[in-house]
Amino acid sequence: MDRPRHSKLHRCGQLIWNLCIVFVVYGIIFEVIVVSRTGSFNPFSKPVASSNAPTIPEGSLSGGVNYRLRPTTLVKNINDAYAGPRRHVDTLANYGKLLEACRGSATGLEKMRFVYDCLEYLSKKEDDYLFLPSDSPASKSDPSYPAVDTAAPASQTNIGQCPGPVQLFHTYWTGPSTWRVELFIKAYLYTQNLPCSRLWIWLDSDTNPTAVADMMQDKGFARFLPLVERGDITLKAWNFPTRIPLPKGTVASDPLYSQILANRALKSAGSTEEKKIEDLGDGVIIHPDGSEWIEFSERQMTFLPVAVSDAVRFIVLHLNGGVYLDMDIMLLRDMRPLLLTPDHNFAERWAVHSHPGDFNTAVLSLNANSSLSSYLVRGGVRMGLNFHPMIVGRMAWKDGRVEELAMFETGLFDPIWGEFNWGREGRCTVPCFKDYGQAFLGTREAVREEWQSFDGPQLEEEEAKAGVTELKKRDAAPASAAEKIVKGEDGSYGGREYRLEEDKYPPTNRTLENFFRGAWSYHIHNQWAKHPQPNSWFSVAQNAHDGFLSGERTNLYGEKWGGPEIMSYDRWREFD
Ligand SMILES: *[C@@H]1O[C@H](CO)[C@@H](O)[C@H](O)[C@H]1NC(C)=O
Ligand SMILES: *[C@@H]1O[C@H](CO)[C@@H](O)[C@H](O)[C@H]1NC(C)=O
Repeated sequence: MDRPRHSKLHRCGQLIWNLCIVFVVYGIIFEVIVVSRTGSFNPFSKPVASSNAPTIPEGSLSGGVNYRLRPTTLVKNINDAYAGPRRHVDTLANYGKLLEACRGSATGLEKMRFVYDCLEYLSKKEDDYLFLPSDSPASKSDPSYPAVDTAAPASQTNIGQCPGPVQLFHTYWTGPSTWRVELFIKAYLYTQNLPCSRLWIWLDSDTNPTAVADMMQDKGFARFLPLVERGDITLKAWNFPTRIPLPKGTVASDPLYSQILANRALKSAGSTEEKKIEDLGDGVIIHPDGSEWIEFSERQMTFLPVAVSDAVRFIVLHLNGGVYLDMDIMLLRDMRPLLLTPDHNFAERWAVHSHPGDFNTAVLSLNANSSLSSYLVRGGVRMGLNFHPMIVGRMAWKDGRVEELAMFETGLFDPIWGEFNWGREGRCTVPCFKDYGQAFLGTREAVREEWQSFDGPQLEEEEAKAGVTELKKRDAAPASAAEKIVKGEDGSYGGREYRLEEDKYPPTNRTLENFFRGAWSYHIHNQWAKHPQPNSWFSVAQNAHDGFLSGERTNLYGEKWGGPEIMSYDRWREFD
């Protein structure tokens, strides 16, 4: 009688075991669905793109709504010139104040997590950290600069004159010109002082030797060819150099090598031998003529770093100076006051890490041919061609050189990074984003939480109705020749009225004015294949950029576009 009992028990256990497996499998499937629908691991989060809100009828055109009739905003009078006039061309930023206001002390980091407060400071206290130097302004540093009030502005075919040094902006890219390249360039055009800025796009030519020629033929990039012509944009072939020049005397000034040099000098004292190439190790070479180099071995050249772009920024800045921006950085403000500062060496903190060497180099600025830039390039080579920002940063910290590279808080360039792992304290930012996908979303659900920290005056809104002028304009000039507007017999577009309640991507009161005001940039963090939904924050940015570049609207500084005609963003049919 024992055996059947045992087997019953056994079967019972088996059953429970099977049930457990079913639960686990079910749980996994459920989680996969949640993650794929909401982009979040939280099973209670709302779907990101709910396509089945009950009021929206099935069908094409955004579920019944004619996208051509969709208003692009609810705001009655958009304040485009929200930043006020652009600062004087000699304006500098006080790094010390920026560090203290957003970080607190270097040891205490009292303010590091309070991103809202940092943005408040950046947007409302400009006069505290921006200043005009009373003596030796940059515009007077070279007699060849034109005077501030007579410098020619940019025109259709001429980039204009800069009364002062021109700043270089670098970015790096492989592959075709996508929407993201367009967003990057247009945000640059929208915000920067163009006669005083140049954008160099480095295209990986080790993997594709014809990268530059390909880009010049690229359909997506065609809209920017007038700006290549005008001199705003330069396409540069990136080939990993076989050697990099160091400014004379860098080696001797580095304690790591000065000992070796001293020993050698002792040994060769009195010797009549002809001077030879000196190899100090780690690729550091001194030629008989005294020039100093980093030279890469054949082996290193065959095993180029996996993260080429990590290395590119350091090498490009060492040789040319300026600022490097990853392609997923969207500029929001004029960078000149940060870049004109004599020692404009800075990067960003890695989220809210407290280690003083934990840099992020999505935004990196270095003086060309400087002791610091040479040190960082040498260091990356010494670390085995590893230019990961945290590796290089911690190395600099160990060597006691970390203070030469200012570490700005995330509020300046990537205001929502602190949202992750409960890094942020105090209020949420405006808009309040909990993840990097949110800027792409135009659905109703996305709006819910984003204004929680906003307590400024409400923007006056209009009743949402199809913008007739908008419609006429689009009717007259379809976005592209391929797109024929289909008009019904009765002159309406598909025969349906526009009804806000039915729209999956309704117009909102979003404007760039309230998009992380104060921050110099917004970091999108990859998501390269995503497209912005209609009326999302990125869609609002697109309209602002296109409005500016078509001459209909101003940029944030109230300036009118004087340059060549630039084609507008394409429409994403997947959201029609
Ligand atoms: C840096 O040094 C290199 C080599 O000496 C030189 O070609 C380059 O023009 C210098 N760059 C700047 C910005 O001074
Ligand atoms: C935009 O509308 C939301 C309500 O949907 C409101 O809470 C917020 O304050 C408004 N923002 C502005 C700038 O008017």
